[in-house]
Amino acid sequence: MKLPAHKPAALAILLGGMTLIGISLVSLVFYLSDSTIQANQRAAVLQNLQQVLPLALYDNQIESDTLIVTDSQLGNEVTTIYRARKHDKPVAVVIASAALDGYNGKIALLVAIKLDGTLAGVRVIAHQETPGLGDKIELSRSDWVLRFQQQSLARLGLPQWAVKRDGGAFDQFSGATITPRAVVTAVKNTLLYYQNHQQELF
Ligand SMILES: Cc1cc2nc3c(=O)[nH]c(=O)nc-3n(C[C@H](O)[C@H](O)[C@H](O)COP(=O)(O)O)c2cc1C
Repeated sequence: MKLPAHKPAALAILLGGMTLIGISLVSLVFYLSDSTIQANQRAAVLQNLQQVLPLALYDNQIESDTLIVTDSQLGNEVTTIYRARKHDKPVAVVIASAALDGYNGKIALLVAIKLDGTLAGVRVIAHQETPGLGDKIELSRSDWVLRFQQQSLARLGLPQWAVKRDGGAFDQFSGATITPRAVVTAVKNTLLYYQNHQQELF
């Protein structure tokens, strides 16, 4: 049987049209889920930032007022610095630094430093330390991390920026000194970085 001459062309147009609709639908779903992921990531960043720096202290879009730096005092890691301003005046920075020498590797931190070099807050936002041992650095496990609040390089001399086992001011955990030692050292180095680069950050 022979197809009418116009049928193959119509079939090709139909197939082409269906393919186009398919591609458009996939692109739309991809676009929508991508923007949902971005919105979720932004909300998570903001939630973490609010833990270390009270909202009342600043009025800018802190999550997009950022600097990306790499410095030996920040472990040569690519580090985001969030800048907080009120009425366009610098108020604080939140440095997303990390301790690279945790018991199980990297411990991601948020270190909020007010303009005068005082810590507004420190939080551990990701780690792989051992449950029951090193994980007491998490606020949900213990209040150890709150000890940093209101501390500064001026208030505690450099030798005191260590765990008690090493002659410093910060508790270690029983049977787990490596994790808190790594966090204390990373916070100290972040404060030193801020002290050395304060002028360039705003
Ligand atoms: C399976 C296992 C997991 C451990 N996890 C940790 C940890 O997450 N953080 C930590 O500081 N020490 C951890 N330790 C203990 C360290 O090996 C080390 O003994 C301890 O940090 C030294 O502290 P201490 O001198 O107070 O005992 C772990 C040990 C074992 C056997």
